[in-house]
Amino acid sequence: MIRNTVQVSLADRSYPITIGEGLFADGALLEPFVRDRRCFLVADSTVAPLFSDMVQKTLEMAHAASISCSVFPAGEESKHLATIGELCRAAAQAGLDRRSVMIALGGGGTGDMTGFAAAIYMRGIDFIQIPTTLLAMVDSSVGGKTGVDLPEGKNLVGAFHQPRAVVIDTDLLKTLPDSQFLCGLAEIVKSAAILDEAFFTELERHVEEIRKRDPQFVAEMIRRCCELKASVVSRDEREGSLRAILNYGHTYGHAIENSFQYRMLHGDAVAIGMRLAADLAVELGVMERSEAERQKALLEALRLPTSIACDPERVYQAMFKDKKALDGVLRFVFTPVTGRAEVRKVEGPLVRAVLERCRNA
Ligand SMILES: NC(=O)c1ccc[n+]([C@@H]2O[C@H](COP(=O)([O-])OP(=O)(O)OC[C@H]3O[C@@H](n4cnc5c(N)ncnc54)[C@H](O)[C@@H]3O)[C@@H](O)[C@H]2O)c1
Ligand SMILES: [Zn+2]
Repeated sequence: MIRNTVQVSLADRSYPITIGEGLFADGALLEPFVRDRRCFLVADSTVAPLFSDMVQKTLEMAHAASISCSVFPAGEESKHLATIGELCRAAAQAGLDRRSVMIALGGGGTGDMTGFAAAIYMRGIDFIQIPTTLLAMVDSSVGGKTGVDLPEGKNLVGAFHQPRAVVIDTDLLKTLPDSQFLCGLAEIVKSAAILDEAFFTELERHVEEIRKRDPQFVAEMIRRCCELKASVVSRDEREGSLRAILNYGHTYGHAIENSFQYRMLHGDAVAIGMRLAADLAVELGVMERSEAERQKALLEALRLPTSIACDPERVYQAMFKDKKALDGVLRFVFTPVTGRAEVRKVEGPLVRAVLERCRNA
């Protein structure tokens, strides 16, 4: 059985990411993190019936002192402060102390909330990420950004809190709907586009395997993305500068999501956002047209959207609600060539013009 480990190097906050199949068959992998400690498993209402029994058994085999489980309703609507309050109260009722461990079993929503609860419960306890969506496996479970949404905007409240371990069992993807799988693909294309031209070429060459969800190639994509994210996070844990390139496609993307009141998939918005950012880069003379076309072609080959019927003014206004633009300045990540990224400030009118021209084109 192939098992890969990627290390996130952050001094005393370093941790392993283990990627493989059947990782929960015994307790060996979790034991160093949970032995003789109280464990608090958090999952949403879709994921809990699928995997929580399996993970609870593994925790028993790993000699956890006790195991309690908390389930919240699936969906981004749950990602708010009230749920954090409920999680912390349930943790207190389960007798969690400062040595206890929270375990996030689920997608990015579960990971963000469990990590945030772990960051503030008793001023910070350990947590483990067990991602179950492709997006969480390639992106959100690594890096220690945790938090929740406010009615005023997404992810406005949170903390940096690194997990002690990330355990990625690719078997867990078998129940993931194709639409959610596509969401993860958008972030994979993003990582390749900003950091790794060779990986981008691999994606272009393996479109068929990706579309068929070939287990071996999927595991390889996850490993590569974790390596790339680990390397960025190790160099810039708190987004002083470099880490911002991970937001490629997200300036337009977040604004599009916001203008549709989040009734669309994040990955779709990011795919459209990357296409628009590339077009903007071409307009500014930062990127060759052929490079922009190359990226658009891969997104389309993977069946990700690259345009949307939207209200340009609404999307434009939404850009200023994003926490990264609260100072009124729009910043974009560009890829002058595929595999390399930079951040630039851009004047509003051009940003709006590209939106106008690109819808449905
Ligand atoms: N912390 C970070 O660095 C970071 C990065 C990117 C995104 N995020 C956050 O992640 C969230 C999006 O992540 P997501 O798309 O994983 O969302 P999610 O956690 O809401 O999961 C999406 C849906 O898939 C279901 N699901 C999960 N695993 C499944 C499985 N194996 N089989 C069947 N169904 C399954 C869930 O119940 C949910 O309905 C957003 O809140 C976003 O802000 C955080
Ligand atoms: Zn994203």
